[in-house]
Order: sequence, then structure tokens, then C-alpha cells
Amino acid sequence: MTNKYKYFVANWKMFGDIKTVNSIYTVIKASKSRNFSKAKIIYCPPYTLLNTFVNKLKKTKVEVGAQNCHQSSSNGPFTGFINSKMIKKLGCKYVIIGHSESRNSGDTNILINKKIKSSLENSLTVIFCIGETFKEKKKNKTKKILINQIKKGLKNIKNIKNIIIAYEPVWSIGTGLVPKNEELLNNILFIKKFLRKNFNYKKTRVLYGGSVSPYNIKNLNEINQIDGFLIGGASQNSNKFIDIIKKSFN
Ligand code: PGA
Repeated sequence: MTNKYKYFVANWKMFGDIKTVNSIYTVIKASKSRNFSKAKIIYCPPYTLLNTFVNKLKKTKVEVGAQNCHQSSSNGPFTGFINSKMIKKLGCKYVIIGHSESRNSGDTNILINKKIKSSLENSLTVIFCIGETFKEKKKNKTKKILINQIKKGLKNIKNIKNIIIAYEPVWSIGTGLVPKNEELLNNILFIKKFLRKNFNYKKTRVLYGGSVSPYNIKNLNEINQIDGFLIGGASQNSNKFIDIIKKSFN
């Protein structure tokens, strides 16, 4: 860990309802223990639960973020969308932008760049996802893809201190597959070096995401350059989520 905190971002995707929210009480309780003092826990539930999460987590150290937003920072006639201003006003501090599932539903690099800008304007911290597909990896194109996603996503953005990168190889998401430590370390260092060189910012936080579970977390934590994890499936089960956090600190 090269930063003060280690991040544990729960990405609930399109799961969860009002009944499942109560399951996070065990996480709230655990977050108060001394073991968790260096854990920054962030829940990103679906839009329908954001308000409930914000209210439930108000007096705790657990924070809330949205999973995406519209690119326009001002309100307008965009049926079905929510912008960063609304997310901020609701009491969220974070927003995930550029997740591969959002890219698959039409988020291009250009759109992602606009979304990041509008989120920063509205004082949200952006969790910016990047990562290669299996095909790209096989063709040895990983680094090229990462550079392209970073350059385009962060185009004309000078200050990246409110951006957290989540490196998520697309082939790792929901598959149970995780890159080998050597490969992962190499890519994390590559991202950090690229950002240091091109944005003159040394403290960039880079998380790993893709099939993180209580079973592989010890191994992943051997890479101390990883500043935390973006966790999908396992984060919906509070016991597993707590287990992942616990195992990251002992
Ligand atoms: P997963 O999802 O942990 O279920 O692989 C991670 C993500 O998509 O952010």
C-alpha cells in the first residue's frame, strides 16, 4: 500500500433492493473496529438505493458512490438519466466512470471524458475504470489499450488528484480469473508511471478489480503497489466483503 488508505469499493451493479440493504449493517459494525482503521469502504449501489445508502451511512465512515452518470453537468431534457450534480447533491462522494459494462452499453472514450469532467466539476471523486479484453491481452496490446483509454478519458484534464484508477482486465470481471501477480504488478506499475510522467502526479491511487474474493485476496495483497480493490460479486455478500477487508490487513 503506497497511500494512507486501502480502498474497498463495492460495486453492486444491477443488484440489490431495499431488503438487501440491511445486510450492510455487519459491514458498518466491522468498519468501527481498529483493524479497519486504514480501510476506505465505499458502496456503489444502483441508483434506486443511493438515497437509502446515503441515509444509512451518514454517521459512519463508510461512503457512497454512483455507478455512472450522464455527461451533462447541468440539468436538462435527458429522459432516464442522472447527472453528477444530482449525485453530489444527494450526498455521494464518488462515481464510477468507464466500467467495461458501461463501455459495452455505449460509453465511448469521448463520452467517458465528458463524464469525468462533469463529475470533477461537481466535486466528485472519480473511480475511472480501464482494462484490456482477453483478445487484446493475447495480442500483447494491453499497454497500448491502457494508454489509449487513459489519454482519451483524461483528455484536457490537468489535475488528477480526484481521480482513482481501477485497473480491471475485462477478462477477469465475473469470471473467477485473476492475472498472475507478476503481470498484475507490471500493469499497475506501468499505469502509475504513465500518470506520473504525463500528469505530473505522484500519488495516484490504482485499484485492482476483477473476481476479487476471500480466496484470492491474500495473494493479491502481496502486491503492495495496489491501493485497493473494486469488488463486484463478492461485495454483495457482507461476510465475504468483510473477510476480504480483514484479510487485507493481517
Ligand atoms: P467482479 O466484478 O468482482 O464480480 O468480478 C468487478 C467489477 O466489475 O467491478
